[in-house]
Amino acid sequence: MLARRSISRALRAPKLRQSHYGLRHQHDSTAPRKSARRPGVFSFVIFGGVAYGAGYYLNKKPDDKIDAVDHTQTAAAQRGPAHTLDSATALIRAAEESRTFGNPRTTGGHFHSTHLASNSPIEDRSDVLDAMDAGWQLWGVYDGHAGWATADLLQHNLPASVVEALKNVPGEAPPESLDETVKRVFTDFDAAILDPAAAVIQDGTPDQRAASVGTLAPALAGSCALLAIFSPVEQSLRVACVGDSRAVLGRAGSGTDALTTIHLSEDQTGFNASERARIEAAHPGESPIDPKEGRILGIAVSRAFGDSRFKWTSALQTAAKERYWGFKARPAADTPPYLTAEPVITSTKVERGDFLILASDGLWDNMRSEDAVKCVAQWREAKRTGKLRQNWQQRAETGSEEKEFVGEWKATSEHFVFEDDNAATCLVKNALGGRRRGLFTGVMSLPSSLSRDARDDITVQVIFFDDEAGSK
Ligand SMILES: *[C@@H]1O[C@H](CO)[C@@H](O)[C@H](O)[C@H]1NC(C)=O
Repeated sequence: MLARRSISRALRAPKLRQSHYGLRHQHDSTAPRKSARRPGVFSFVIFGGVAYGAGYYLNKKPDDKIDAVDHTQTAAAQRGPAHTLDSATALIRAAEESRTFGNPRTTGGHFHSTHLASNSPIEDRSDVLDAMDAGWQLWGVYDGHAGWATADLLQHNLPASVVEALKNVPGEAPPESLDETVKRVFTDFDAAILDPAAAVIQDGTPDQRAASVGTLAPALAGSCALLAIFSPVEQSLRVACVGDSRAVLGRAGSGTDALTTIHLSEDQTGFNASERARIEAAHPGESPIDPKEGRILGIAVSRAFGDSRFKWTSALQTAAKERYWGFKARPAADTPPYLTAEPVITSTKVERGDFLILASDGLWDNMRSEDAVKCVAQWREAKRTGKLRQNWQQRAETGSEEKEFVGEWKATSEHFVFEDDNAATCLVKNALGGRRRGLFTGVMSLPSSLSRDARDDITVQVIFFDDEAGSK
């Protein structure tokens, strides 16, 4: 169960975006992607029009002010950032983290992470929790949609709630009871988001509206959760997945050729046959999934936290809309809930040399799991041999670009570049073009929300369980 403090922190946090734009669905990832473009262009046109009008007026007016206006600067301010290789790299490096963690069986583990925003502000959250006093080390990635309110709440509270619950599982309990405990924490957590919000809709009074909106925000928004729970003593790794963030284990074997990619989670979308069967079976005669789009009543993920639109009755949603600016209820959604926050859990024994990649779908949109594993393995080798710094010192500002059309690029190893000291930064840069500098600096220069058509928010964590090369 959530501590009271956690809830009140969440109450303080959210600010609903529509107050800025009057456009509720601007950052709604459940809406078709194309619509994300409109408000950006729209406000650009408005802003451009106002700027043009002001310029026209000042030009016409014969007074001293004309000389004071630097039109080249006004125009520059309206353009995007026009990144160079160095400034685009600096942007990814700005969010880097690197730290060690205890691993009694080995020399210790090493953790690298970073994130890159496409939404403004970013809707991804992530964290590390060192709970070695209880025997656990946790890493989490939370990819929010329709805002960051749910993801933020998860980041601050979910891992600690899991640790508290695991402490109460007796040492001799079978592994399945650990899984059951984690599942229960996840679904209880979701109830702790939704139930107080439903109560507020029913019982809240107009003079409490500000606080009520805060309680509602994490129920109206939604988030995926990907939580890795590692026991250094047992060398056991559990990954609990809700949504379409992905955990991939790289196993070195002997030499790079023996490299294997082990999926520790499956993307939970309407494209997954077992997810589709589960949902169809729960809603006979309704067909809530569009098989072409892989979406459940419009949303791309088949499991999520929050997202009351897919969990509440139409009557409750209508009340939320009338009293608290909630969403319009989906038509023909008569048998909620359509989404669950129950995770799918995998368990793995960690072997010497293994590394784990956790990332939001922003990475996987442009990079296959096998390529990500290959990238990290090659990064580790470049780090070990001191090539990273050398490559960065000798970096080239331009690279070979094979295509004019960039819309559907994929990150493949022939374009990989190894010049960043942080493995997560290396993955992000390579997912966004790598050695193709024109692609990389171009896609990095797209301002929000135009960027959303080209790249999603990206969060990457890389965990080297026992890696000398990962450390300094
Ligand atoms: C669908 O998801 C389930 C549960 O995570 C997984 O076992 C299965 O392999 C997935 N199927 C495909 C085709 O990815």
